[in-house]
Amino acid sequence: MAQTRESWRSRSGFVIAAAGSAVGLGNIWRFPYVAGENGGGAFIVLYLAIVFTVGFSIFLAEQTIGRAAQRSPAAAFRRLKGGAWPIVGYVGVLCAVVILPFYSVVGGWTLGFIWKSAMGSASDAGSFGAFISHGWLPILFHALFMAATVAVVVAGVRNGIERWSRILLPGLVLLMIVLIFRSISLSGAEKGVSFFLSPDFSKVTMATIQAALSQAFFSISVGMGVMITYGSYISRDRSLPGDAVWVVGLDSIFAIMAGLIVLPAVFAFGENPSAGPALTFVMLPQIFSQIPGGSIFGLLFFLMLSVAALTSAISILEVAVAHLNDEHNIARRRGTIGAGLILFLVGIPASLSFGPWADLTIFGMTIFDLMDFFATKLLLPTGAIGMALFVGWVFWPDAAKSLNGNDEPPPRWSPIWRWMCALVAPILILWVMVGGF
Ligand code: PHE
Repeated sequence: MAQTRESWRSRSGFVIAAAGSAVGLGNIWRFPYVAGENGGGAFIVLYLAIVFTVGFSIFLAEQTIGRAAQRSPAAAFRRLKGGAWPIVGYVGVLCAVVILPFYSVVGGWTLGFIWKSAMGSASDAGSFGAFISHGWLPILFHALFMAATVAVVVAGVRNGIERWSRILLPGLVLLMIVLIFRSISLSGAEKGVSFFLSPDFSKVTMATIQAALSQAFFSISVGMGVMITYGSYISRDRSLPGDAVWVVGLDSIFAIMAGLIVLPAVFAFGENPSAGPALTFVMLPQIFSQIPGGSIFGLLFFLMLSVAALTSAISILEVAVAHLNDEHNIARRRGTIGAGLILFLVGIPASLSFGPWADLTIFGMTIFDLMDFFATKLLLPTGAIGMALFVGWVFWPDAAKSLNGNDEPPPRWSPIWRWMCALVAPILILWVMVGGF
């Protein structure tokens, strides 16, 4: 039975939803620290250069594949070429189902810390460690986070994803602006701003470039087929490159805004920044507890983090749901609830690996770390290479013709894009992958 495919309601529908996907935990808990450690302003310049060349090229590759095929990843490759190419789509879908469970566990922590901030217990010594190792409590919040993700996706592309992104993304901007002002007006905040922004080119090495590349890919959500899936809801008459510039640009702006929230606060209190959970869930609550009105800012901070994580999780679940729909004819409602339930269950061991199952390691990694490693170091880059090669060698020159929509002539720079996809991007990603081992 052929149904008509849903499409974005408004002209900006894709941009809003895709930016919601891109802006996530990667921007807020990783970018500020990685930038500060790797030469500050020098890293940011390098990062922007990478995001707007290689990152942009792969983003556009995904978007083009999705729009041309009007299908989710695996079905898209089958429709455009067939042969072994759908495997690239399967890699993306597999990546989605490995990432979402542990992303949702962390999303659950952000919800837990909204609650803890409201109760005034977020900054208690050992609070974070006790929370994540508790056993059922973080699983409960993981369930809540997954339920929220399911609730949005089940309502569909227009009434769920687009509508909620349109509410949540501006909300995120507002929260961030409030927090930036609070953070940079603390006394001693300048040291954090200068750690983040002043360029130190002596810190830029090969390892820095690798760090910038892998941060860039994760941050703009490429390699998994999110942009193939979201691209499949773009109508035929729309020109793609402009939307891609918007999303990549917004993602970079959010990353820089996050740096202006996190680092000034950390430095104002004479702390040393670190990456990830320790910074976000341990250091920041302590800082908030020392400033006037801090409990409110703490609450706003975790609200911001959970909103950012939610719009990313939505996009990951949508990859699975669209796949079930296109490949197995499973309706949205059943697919979303079923996938949400299964991925919730898969997340339980990941959550337990911080508590009761902490000693259970495979290749020296806990279950959580193993899932993270397998998805972000292995599957994501493999998917990205496959998509880039496909556009550069197989889907070319049709890829160029489809850029502008309505069979309009391709932009003059499209041959540069082609060689980015055919050679530059795959080689760089391979280099990062090898470096990751
Ligand atoms: N870009 C998201 C972040 O920065 C994570 C993500 C990766 C989402 C890949 C979807 C696909 O947190």
